[in-house]
Amino acid sequence: MPRVTFIHPEGRSGDVPENVTLLEAADVLGFPLTHDCGGNASCTTCRVDVAVGEENLSEIDFEEQDLLDREALTASYHRLGCQARVLGDVMVQVPEEKWGDTKNF
Ligand code: FES
Repeated sequence: MPRVTFIHPEGRSGDVPENVTLLEAADVLGFPLTHDCGGNASCTTCRVDVAVGEENLSEIDFEEQDLLDREALTASYHRLGCQARVLGDVMVQVPEEKWGDTKNF
C-alpha cells in the first residue's frame, strides 16, 4: 500500500489503499483536510502542494486543471486533494495559510 504523508504541525503519515484520493487518504489517516465543496472540484480548500512523489499521483484531469487555472494555482505541485489519486508514495504540504482552518471530518 502507498504511504501518504501530510506535512502540517499536526500532520499524519501512514499507509492507504491504492487509488484513493488524497482527501480520502486524509480521512483514513485521521487528518482533517478541509473540503468545503464536499470533494466536487469547485472550492480549492483541499489544495495541497506536493513535496515528494508528484509522479505517484493520477494525472490532472480537465476539471481539476480548470479550477486550478482559475485560481492561478499553476505550478505542477499544486493539486486538489479531492481529485488527485494516490498511486504510490507521496508527501504533500498543507499550505501554511490553511493551518488554522482544518476541520474535523
Ligand atoms: Fe472542494 Fe476539493 S473539496 S475542490
